[in-house]
Amino acid sequence: DASDIEKGTYPYYMLKEIDEQPLVVRKIIQTYQNEQGALTIDPEIITAMNESDRVYIIAAGTSYHAGLVGKQFIETIAKLPVEVHIASEFVYNMPLLTKKPLFIFISQSGETADSRAVLVKVKELGYRTLTITNVPGSTLSREADYTLLLHAGPEIAVASSKAYTAQLAVLAILADVTAKSQGIPVDFDLIHELGIIANAMEVLCDSKELIEHISREFLSVTRNAFFIGRGVDYYVGLEGALKLKEISYIQAEGFAGGELKHGTIALIEEGTPVIALATQESVNLSIRGNVKEVVARGANPCIISMDGLNMDEDSFVIPEVHELLTPLISVIPLQLIAYYAALHRDCDVDKPRNLAKSVTVE
Ligand code: AGP
Repeated sequence: DASDIEKGTYPYYMLKEIDEQPLVVRKIIQTYQNEQGALTIDPEIITAMNESDRVYIIAAGTSYHAGLVGKQFIETIAKLPVEVHIASEFVYNMPLLTKKPLFIFISQSGETADSRAVLVKVKELGYRTLTITNVPGSTLSREADYTLLLHAGPEIAVASSKAYTAQLAVLAILADVTAKSQGIPVDFDLIHELGIIANAMEVLCDSKELIEHISREFLSVTRNAFFIGRGVDYYVGLEGALKLKEISYIQAEGFAGGELKHGTIALIEEGTPVIALATQESVNLSIRGNVKEVVARGANPCIISMDGLNMDEDSFVIPEVHELLTPLISVIPLQLIAYYAALHRDCDVDKPRNLAKSVTVE
């Protein structure tokens, strides 16, 4: 059928969409560049950013995880405070808002009912709204004041992959253009760094054999798994855990490395897989300390580190990229680990049970 043609030689859309990530990042760099080669965003959106005293990011699932990283980007680069909220929680339990909030809705489909419920509510209150979506003309795009598009091309697999990295790229660009509009110095060239990211993504997409091997070694017989990290690595771990749960049905949780010892470590048994991310220099030693704690209780560790921070015991090393942008590439081995775990368990990778691509009920 037609969908088979679109999949080409790929067994599943998810694998195709994982492989498209370098292309998508290059497309985003191109699309968000002006004729002078500078990054550019609709000036009305930048004004809305500059006139707000706090950004509230609203999203669900993978898009929520992208929002957590986006907070890091916007606060670090543009020095603007950001809160990130799960849409379905925010709608019933709104926090005390600042005087000039800007609401950013992140949604691949632009149709998520939980996010729309928040949009309707904050519009009633008269606040400004921006939707970051992959689907032009989607409900959230039509109903918000402004839209930024992901340009990731249709994402068919229920498990989101390229939309996540596209969301991160667009959020980084938004942060960069906002900072520059205010004369806030940005000490790196984002276009250049995103180019490096796209190349690194290619290297990772070419490492499938090794990642398949890792996936077998760590996840073939297990019923559960843990992902740990600190800072942005923690947020990427949450996404890695969601991917694994969603398509392989292995119970997985992402934890902040330092939080394990406050309860969760009780779950570690002989052979429990613990996937640790180590891409941030400032917490490299502390996350490795957390790995030692779980290994002492019998865990089977898989350390994914960034080149330059790697150590002998590491299972997989990702290429060196700008430290702030590591989530754009560290997520790829996690997407692939989940993919192969699902494949080896004979799961329907693209259509996991109980799930729909866009959740249009609250
Ligand atoms: C991702 O793998 C999930 N299928 C899911 O969490 C998804 O990200 C969530 O439902 C939000 O969808 P949206 O981005 O289309 O709003």
